[in-house]
Amino acid sequence: MHPNLDITKMATNRTFTMIKPDAVEAGHIGGILNMINEGGFRIVSLKLTQLTVADAKAFYAVHAERPFYGELVEFMSRGPIVAAILEKDNAVEDFRKLIGATNPADAAEGTIRKRYAKSIGENAVHGSDSDENAAIEGAFHFAGREEF
Ligand code: CMP
Repeated sequence: MHPNLDITKMATNRTFTMIKPDAVEAGHIGGILNMINEGGFRIVSLKLTQLTVADAKAFYAVHAERPFYGELVEFMSRGPIVAAILEKDNAVEDFRKLIGATNPADAAEGTIRKRYAKSIGENAVHGSDSDENAAIEGAFHFAGREEF
């Protein structure tokens, strides 16, 4: 197979996001979805759901050795989240620009985290860091028949 045809490396123009428990608790679902729409993203899948402790551990397994892992798992499972698959040209990179830096103190003006995040841990939104992870994370939350 030609290396450029490796489907796991193909740009999908999709990313995956979660509106995290801090932002849901604070009533920012509507404000954040509005910024996502204004940013030119199409909603492919959307739901209000809650991660179990086991879900959060699995979702953030890549951070298992980090000192903040326990805190992160507790935070992400403490209340409902909004999970969504989003579509746009260059979705992963453009969405990370729209959400801003992990630490809201470093987030640029006009970003979701600048407006809504409280701290480096409780930072309002998740955005996938690669096309491959976007596909994995989307499949973690949505069945094919929930993608539109
Ligand atoms: P995100 O980048 O979406 O995914 C990893 C998450 O770990 C990050 O958002 C934060 O919620 C959390 N995180 C990263 N760094 C820290 C930290 N220093 N202390 C607490 N939580 C953190």
